[in-house]
Amino acid sequence: MAKTDKKPAAKPATKASAKPAAKPAAKGQAIDIGISADHRAAIAKGLNGLLADTFTLYLTTHNFHWNVTGPMFNTLHVMFMDQYTELWNAVDPIAERIRALGFPAKGSFADYAKFSTLPDAPTEPPKAKEMIRILVAGHEAVARTGRALYPLVDEASDEPTADLLTQRLDVHEKAAWMLRSLLED
Ligand SMILES: [Fe+2]
Repeated sequence: MAKTDKKPAAKPATKASAKPAAKPAAKGQAIDIGISADHRAAIAKGLNGLLADTFTLYLTTHNFHWNVTGPMFNTLHVMFMDQYTELWNAVDPIAERIRALGFPAKGSFADYAKFSTLPDAPTEPPKAKEMIRILVAGHEAVARTGRALYPLVDEASDEPTADLLTQRLDVHEKAAWMLRSLLED
């Protein structure tokens, strides 16, 4: 009797449930919105790249708001504030679209460093004109990341993501134009 008592209890089925599912199955109710799991996964991956780009550009813009100097200080300090506020507000709908597609939204500096197509902000604050050039390049890079997703999104008939991309592209292309204009004589 004592022996049987000492026997370890049969392990509950936790191991089996810990095995990775073949597909990113929902823990609760399965997702059935008319977009295949493969399409949802690919779009979510692309949107996580857009999220990483957007957050990186947000942080660089806020950094420049703090550190800008020179005769254009007031113009740029205010302009950068408008831009970083817009970028800050933009990360939420991008992340929430990823969640609606059934995948985790990336939200760490390690992931952003890994997945962003933009470089990190410079460690030493550059001159004002160089800040503008960096931000033009940043907005253009985010626009390219977003635009590259359209064929996939169209193929999946993912209209909410297409709508989100359209809004983001409009913002980035307009911001790039405004910043670029400051560099003209
Ligand atoms: Fe401020």
